[in-house]
Amino acid sequence: MSPEQRRIVVVGAGSGIGAATAAHYHEQGEYVLAVDLRRSDTPAARHEYCDLRDAASIDALLERIDSGWDVLTYVAGVPGTAPAHDVLAVNYLGMRLMTEGMLPRLRPGGAIVTVASVAALGWQQRIDELADLLDATDLDTVRTWQDAQDPAYPVYSTSKQAAIIYAKRLAPAAWQKYGVRVNTVSPGPTETPILTDFEASMGKDVLDMVKATVGRHASVDDIVPVITFLASPAARWINGQDVHVDGGFVAPMSTGAPIQL
Ligand SMILES: NC(=O)c1ccc[n+]([C@@H]2O[C@H](COP(=O)([O-])OP(=O)(O)OC[C@H]3O[C@@H](n4cnc5c(N)ncnc54)[C@H](O)[C@@H]3O)[C@@H](O)[C@H]2O)c1
Repeated sequence: MSPEQRRIVVVGAGSGIGAATAAHYHEQGEYVLAVDLRRSDTPAARHEYCDLRDAASIDALLERIDSGWDVLTYVAGVPGTAPAHDVLAVNYLGMRLMTEGMLPRLRPGGAIVTVASVAALGWQQRIDELADLLDATDLDTVRTWQDAQDPAYPVYSTSKQAAIIYAKRLAPAAWQKYGVRVNTVSPGPTETPILTDFEASMGKDVLDMVKATVGRHASVDDIVPVITFLASPAARWINGQDVHVDGGFVAPMSTGAPIQL
């Protein structure tokens, strides 16, 4: 490893956006640790297994990796077609446990970037409702919380709302104590294997409408540069932000009628 080579952990590197993120860093000559539940041929210096639904698996992963890392990108996620407990375990709790486990292992000047989603839209209105979930740090408490929720509210949205609120709450202390920035990236629909599950859970008509409005779905190459920018020294004064990468679909939803040209 050369002295200027950065050391990057990509969680969820087995497919889609995570695989593209790992491949990008690897091609740039960075040292990449690719983490996933599934075996993959994602280009990386090292591969590690972890089941993010299982705190013991996360602890075991953290035991196997040393310190002196520069970046954690948490890209792993499961769609709303998965069991509700798994959605919260992977998209929220696993992210939280990985983040808190990695913070002391990251060098000052480092960064954490978590992939959330535009499906978190409306998170500002749910802060009080999600208070107990955001206090939860173990799977049993998360499961008990979810069991008391209205099953009609999409758990995928809840999981991504919690991820964004958590990152924003953590960012000031992470910066002050560790010199590490914490941000989230929220893609709109992106051409990866998960998209079919989104069509099932959110409705194909909804996704087709989004596609028709902005002209196409994203490709992973639309998302990866935003992740890598937020993780880079060039973004050194950006902390606690959620960046939509959706072709502009969501922006007018919080501003009233879009201007017509
Ligand atoms: N594709 C989209 O339209 C879209 C839109 C918004 C947000 N996102 C988010 O982007 C992220 C990446 O999704 P993607 O589109 O690349 O999907 P993907 O299905 O291609 O990749 C998800 C990865 O997460 C891994 N993973 C799932 N459960 C795991 C577990 N228990 N332990 C370890 N790894 C696990 C999978 O093995 C896979 O490699 C997810 O967080 C997703 O919610 C995707």
